[in-house]
Amino acid sequence: MSTLIKSLAGLGLGAALTLTAGTALAAGSGCGTFTNAEGVEEHLLCSEAPIDFTNKGSLQNGAKTFMNYCAGCHSAQYVRHSRIAKDLEIPPELVEKYLMVTTDQIGDHINAEIDPEVQASWFGAAPPDLSLETRLRGDDWVYTYLLSFYEDPSRPWGANNLVLANAAMPHVLHNMQEKLSQEEFESEVGDLVNFMAWMGEPARHDRQVIGFFVIIFLLVLLIPVYLLNKEFWKDVK
Ligand code: HEC
Repeated sequence: MSTLIKSLAGLGLGAALTLTAGTALAAGSGCGTFTNAEGVEEHLLCSEAPIDFTNKGSLQNGAKTFMNYCAGCHSAQYVRHSRIAKDLEIPPELVEKYLMVTTDQIGDHINAEIDPEVQASWFGAAPPDLSLETRLRGDDWVYTYLLSFYEDPSRPWGANNLVLANAAMPHVLHNMQEKLSQEEFESEVGDLVNFMAWMGEPARHDRQVIGFFVIIFLLVLLIPVYLLNKEFWKDVK
């Protein structure tokens, strides 16, 4: 019996440790280093992206921003417009009218408007596909990256980035940032990253909810399993 309990406890502890380590890593992970005005190297911590898949308004707003500001250059090759309509609860007519900037077929994936190869010759680097970007870099990295553009006249597009030094991407949200307060801008970018996280794994929220109930179920199951084990071994011992 004690072996069973020990191994179960070990499993639980292991899972808890992995979870805590994962969270700690995500929260405290760096978003690069940069040299400040005094020439001292500083470490940039990532800001936490406000991810909430239950907030449909935020996802819808993020989809709008993505399609209008990003899909010109970046594709999201694993995401179909029809899936956006279904999951984000946007009527297909509205998706066709406002979100399909690069195609007229609702079953199509999100393709970049401009050929990536042509763009590579313009920017010096081809814009990567963004379907899985938040999984590659992490939600917080992408969020911090989008909030970290600053003016730099020495760069070809007049902007540089604290997280990705000498980024080839222009500061495409510059006009939006000018028009909004810092708080409003962060909220817009938050919605955008929320949408990008959804693109990366649409089932993430469901997976987490199901995972939670599976653990509860296993914990409850432990009680009859423990009693049963006791019953089986009582005559042997
Ligand atoms: C004018 C074209 C253009 C637009 C519009 C654009 N990007 Fe980019 N983006 C690029 C290029 C080019 C790169 C490659 C940068 C590099 O490697 O230095 C890039 C890189 C990135 C990266 C970093 C990829 C990585 O992991 O290194 C992210 C994230 C990103 N873009 C997100 C966005 C988002 C979100 C939008 C919409 C708000 C957007 N981009 C709009 C051209 C663009």
